[in-house]
Amino acid sequence: MELRLEKYCGQAAKLSRSQIKAALRQKRVTLNGQLAKGGEKVDPAQDVVCLDGKPLCWQQHIYLMLNKPKGVVSATRDSREKTVLDLVPQEYRRPGLFPAGRLDKETTGFVLITDDGEFAHRMLSPKHHVEKAYQALLAGSFTTAMAEQFEKGCVLKDGYQCLPARIKLLEQRENAMVEIVLREGKYHQIRRMAAACGSRVLELKRIRLGGLFLDPELKPGECREILHKELLKILTTSTPRPQETP
Ligand code: URA
Repeated sequence: MELRLEKYCGQAAKLSRSQIKAALRQKRVTLNGQLAKGGEKVDPAQDVVCLDGKPLCWQQHIYLMLNKPKGVVSATRDSREKTVLDLVPQEYRRPGLFPAGRLDKETTGFVLITDDGEFAHRMLSPKHHVEKAYQALLAGSFTTAMAEQFEKGCVLKDGYQCLPARIKLLEQRENAMVEIVLREGKYHQIRRMAAACGSRVLELKRIRLGGLFLDPELKPGECREILHKELLKILTTSTPRPQETP
């Protein structure tokens, strides 16, 4: 696989097109030891591109953690609504990016955005049992009957039998703040599970995918690259221990 030098530099060094142009003009880029002019073809498996004398490291795929705000749709494109891809900073944009797993428009929190379809499949397939953890504000009181239904596997109004899920009360005031852990991700699943138990979701935020928590430093609408060791945590099938909780 080959790609244009500008594209290679943009992806590897997270530079904008104008920054790459400037670096080329300033003679700061070399390809296999020769000054680069721009427009050359680069084979990432063989060629060495340096910026300011330092080799650039190109990755085939990109993985981003977005703290999704309310009012944004989890789609690649939408003619009317703002999408999660509209929130991706220019330096991370590349063809083929998509949100791996959807959150409802009003749900907030952790969305993984990637161009790696295979990774997304491994994370989302119910067969792989990767946990998805949420904080939910439920109207009214938390009941043991609800906890039992979640733990057994709720039967939704359309007859779908959910996989067993965990629910834990975090705080009971006028409404109940709970943590819910699922191993599947059907359309509106938590809202429909709550409805099946006679309750209603007022607020919903995804806080964890597998063993990786949403970065508390990310403000709503912000996004950052996921490190390689964090990526492996996402595919962890065991529940993280409490000391790993941020
Ligand atoms: N369950 C829901 O109901 N909505 C989401 O966005 C995610 C899980």
